[in-house]
Amino acid sequence: MCSQITEILGPSDQDLIHAAELLKAGQLVSFPTETVYGLGADARNGTAVAAVYAAKGRPSFNPLIAHVHSVAAAQELVQWSDMAERLAAAFWPGPLTLVLPLRAGHGVSSLVTAGLETLAVRVPAHPTALRLLAHVGGPVAAPSANPSGRISPTTAAHVLAGLKGKIAAVVDDGPCGVGVESTILGLAGPEPVLLRPGGLAAEEIEAVIGQPLAQRNAADPLTAPGQLLSHYAPKARVRLEAQTALEGEVLLGFGPMACDLNLSETGDLSEAAANLFDHLHRLDALSQPIAVAPVPDRGLGVAINDRLRRAAAPRD
Ligand code: TXA
Ligand code: MG
Repeated sequence: MCSQITEILGPSDQDLIHAAELLKAGQLVSFPTETVYGLGADARNGTAVAAVYAAKGRPSFNPLIAHVHSVAAAQELVQWSDMAERLAAAFWPGPLTLVLPLRAGHGVSSLVTAGLETLAVRVPAHPTALRLLAHVGGPVAAPSANPSGRISPTTAAHVLAGLKGKIAAVVDDGPCGVGVESTILGLAGPEPVLLRPGGLAAEEIEAVIGQPLAQRNAADPLTAPGQLLSHYAPKARVRLEAQTALEGEVLLGFGPMACDLNLSETGDLSEAAANLFDHLHRLDALSQPIAVAPVPDRGLGVAINDRLRRAAAPRD
């Protein structure tokens, strides 16, 4: 992977405006939050979000959290509810992420949601993060700024140790106060569900909502660590490593070839990652079995193939 110069920026207005320009141009910028340093990308730019996975060396696509600077900005992306209102009033800005149904016209890349119909949003309680988000003026997807499988960074030095040369900049504003990732609460179903314990104690949430929180069922094999309750899976049967479509199939291509939709005609893995979930959705809407051309198993191709294998796995 080609190396780039990673700028080290501070919390001055000038630096944050520059960091925001980098993000708006599709570059990756790490920034502090109260929990951990995030690896930010413009959430509306699928290629930028794909670059997050490439920089982290993540072997699979998990949905990411969209960071916004205000409740109003969150309301533009998701279908708001009374419960969301109460929790946001009590805990935002803060280490609480809310998962809510996407709102029409949200504009967020399907690589952020991993193709789900819901979005995780949060307003971080870090003045520098909030100023940066205000300068960007749109949602910033940001997982923790560490290479996949390594521990989460709570200083800019941690970020540089893992990602120097792979990202455009890091905004250094000292150590993070909380040090563990945000608590994630699912609000897309009938009851609030604790999806990930984190920086806000479940008891505090229960005190506000006046009821015990349902836990994600750890015995459910789909909810094992790193997995989600509901990964996007097409309704149609999926066949991998296809050179051509069989009768009745639609073909999802990669590289120069005849097909119904192409992940990347030029064989660019970042472009393919950015298109993956959109293209699967669009082909699935045709209600025909989906054949998928081989995707090289290197770089972002590893994550793409992980998702494709899940999509193709037998289910009941
Ligand atoms: O503290 C934090 O939350 C840090 C800082 C940087 O803000 N960010 C963070 O982001 O931990 P991330 O993207 O690594 O967290 C992603 C996790 C996923 O692994 C999944 O568990 C959950 O958030 N998630 C995201 N979108 C979801 C969705 N639509 N439904 C259910 N869970 C979702
Ligand atoms: Mg992480």
